[in-house]
Amino acid sequence: MYARVVAKFYAAVATKRCSIACLGASRRAIHQSPSNRNDRDSERNTTHFGFQTVYEDEKEVKVAEVFHNVANKYDLMNDAMSFGIHRLWKDTFVRQLNLQSGLNIVDVGGGTGKVNQRVKNSMDKNTQENIPNCAISVIDINQSMLDVGKTRGKELGYQGDIKWIKGDAENLPVKDSSADLVTAAFAIRNVTNIRKAISEAYRILTPGGRFSVLEFSHVTNPYLKSLYDTYSFEMIPVMGEIIAEDWKSYQYLVESIRQFPTQSEFADMFKQAGFRFVRFQNLTFGTVAIHSGFKI
Ligand SMILES: C[S@@+](CC[C@H](N)C(=O)[O-])C[C@H]1O[C@@H](n2cnc3c(N)ncnc32)[C@H](O)[C@@H]1O
Repeated sequence: MYARVVAKFYAAVATKRCSIACLGASRRAIHQSPSNRNDRDSERNTTHFGFQTVYEDEKEVKVAEVFHNVANKYDLMNDAMSFGIHRLWKDTFVRQLNLQSGLNIVDVGGGTGKVNQRVKNSMDKNTQENIPNCAISVIDINQSMLDVGKTRGKELGYQGDIKWIKGDAENLPVKDSSADLVTAAFAIRNVTNIRKAISEAYRILTPGGRFSVLEFSHVTNPYLKSLYDTYSFEMIPVMGEIIAEDWKSYQYLVESIRQFPTQSEFADMFKQAGFRFVRFQNLTFGTVAIHSGFKI
C-alpha cells in the first residue's frame, strides 16, 4: 500500500514536473494580460485567477470548473492537505458565532456543508440546548458542490433542515435586511469581486446582524512563511493529483491564497462596506483568519 502511494507520488511529480518548473512563469503571469485581447476587450475589467490575469467573466467560469472537478474529493482533500486541522478551524469558527435559537443564517459558498452541519449541531449560548429552530440557507454558485452537500446532509439526517440554494455571493437571492447571521468559509477568496460580496452580506443582514468569514490568510512570520510556501507550492498540487487527479485546481488553490488581501486589508474592506466593530483573529499563525463585523 505504502509502496503504491509512493509510486503514485513520484509518478505525479514526474508527469507534472513542468508545472513546478512553470511556477515562476505562472507567478509572473499575474502581470500579463489575457491572451487574444482586442479593442473591445480593453473595456472589460480584469481580475486574477490564481497567478493568472483573466477577464472578470472568465474567472467565474474557471472557478466553477475547479469546484465542479473537485466536488467529490473536496472533503477528503481538505483532510489530507491540512492534516485534519481544517476541522479545528471550522469548529473554532462556529464556536465564535455565539449561536442562539431562532436565527436566520445564510452560509455563502457553503459548498459541501461542513460549516452548516456544525452550526446545526451547535448549542444555544444561553440554554446550552441544541438550536433546532434556526433557519439555515446554504447558497453556492456550484451545483456539484451543493449536490455533494445535500447527499451528505441526507446521510446525516439533516434532510429538510437546510435549504440548498444555487446563487452568487455577488448577487444573493435573499431579501434586504432578512438574515441575522451571514457566514462564509473559504468561499470569498473565490468570488470575482470581493467588495461586492461583502456589500451583499451587508445588504441582506438585519441591523445588529453579523458577517463572519473564515478564509485562508497570510502567515506573517518569515521563517514559517517560507516553510508554508514550500509545502503549499510543492506538495499540495501533487496531493491534488494523487487524491483528486487534479493538479490544476490545487495549483489554483495555493495561488489564490497568495492573491487574497492581507488580514488588515480585508478588515478595511469590511469597514468600507459599512460594517462596524470589525475585528479579525489569526488561527495557526495566520494560515487562516476569522474576520467579523456587525451591521449597526
Ligand atoms: C473552498 S469551497 C468552501 C466550501 C465550504 N464553505 C467549506 O468550508 O467547506 C468554496 C465554495 O465557494 C463557492 N463559490 C465560489 N464562488 C462563488 C460565488 N461567486 N458565489 C457563491 N459561491 C461561490 C464554490 O462553489 C465552493 O463551493
